[in-house]
Amino acid sequence: MITGNKIKLRNRRLADAQNDYTWQTDPELARLDATPPLATTFSRYLSGYASELRYSSSNRHSFAIETMDDEHIGNCVYYNINETKGQAELGIMIGNRDYWDKGYGADAVTTLVSYIFRQTNLKRIYLKTLDWNSRAQRCFQNSGFTPYRYLARDGFRFVLMEIHRKQWQERQTGAERAQKQITPP
Ligand SMILES: CC(C)(COP(=O)(O)OP(=O)(O)OC[C@H]1O[C@@H](n2cnc3c(N)ncnc32)[C@H](O)[C@@H]1OP(=O)(O)O)[C@@H](O)C(=O)NCCC(=O)NCCS
Repeated sequence: MITGNKIKLRNRRLADAQNDYTWQTDPELARLDATPPLATTFSRYLSGYASELRYSSSNRHSFAIETMDDEHIGNCVYYNINETKGQAELGIMIGNRDYWDKGYGADAVTTLVSYIFRQTNLKRIYLKTLDWNSRAQRCFQNSGFTPYRYLARDGFRFVLMEIHRKQWQERQTGAERAQKQITPP
C-alpha cells in the first residue's frame, strides 16, 4: 500500500474487474484515452483479467487508486520500463467521474512518481496525453510534469510530458521548506 494525501495506491485484485470493465467500455473515457471502447463480454474480460493478475511483468507495474475510504476510483501504471535508458512511461485513469477535478488525479500521479523515484534507479518518467485534454495536462503540470514535444500517431495529436529525478528532488525540497515555514515553533 502506497499512501498519498487524498488517495492510496494498492495492488489490483479480481474484485476490481467490474469497475475496470465499466470504465473500459465507456465511450467517453475511451475517447479521452484515444482508444476504442472495449467490445467484449464481461466473462471473457474477467478470464483475461484473472490471468493478467496471475502473471506479474517486470516491465509494467499497475495499481488501483482508492480514496482514503477504500473506494476504488481508478487505476495508474508505470510501464515501458527501460533500465538502460533509465526511464518509464506513466498512465492514469480516474474512472469515477464524481472524483474528477478534485485533486485526486494530481495526488495519485505525485504519489506514484515519488514511489518510482524512491524505489527504483529510474531518472525520467514521461507520459502522453491528447493535445485537447486540458484537464489531464493541468493535472500533470500540478504534479511537476512539463510538456516537451508533440507526437502525431494514428490520426491523434498527443502532448508528451516528462519529469526528471532532479526536478522531482527540487519539488521535494521546496515542499519540505514550505512545510517548515507553516509549522508553529
Ligand atoms: C485526467 C485525470 C487523470 C485528471 O485527474 P483529476 O483528479 O480529474 O485531476 P485534478 O483534479 O488533479 O486536476 C485537474 C485540473 O484540471 C483543471 N481543469 C479541469 N477542466 C479543465 C479544462 N477544461 N481546461 C483547463 N483546466 C481544466 C482543474 O481545475 C484542475 O486544475 P487545478 O487543480 O489547478 O484547479 C482524470 O480526470 C481522468 O482520468 N479523466 C478521464 C480519462 C482521461 O482523461 N484520461 C487521459 C489521461 S492521459
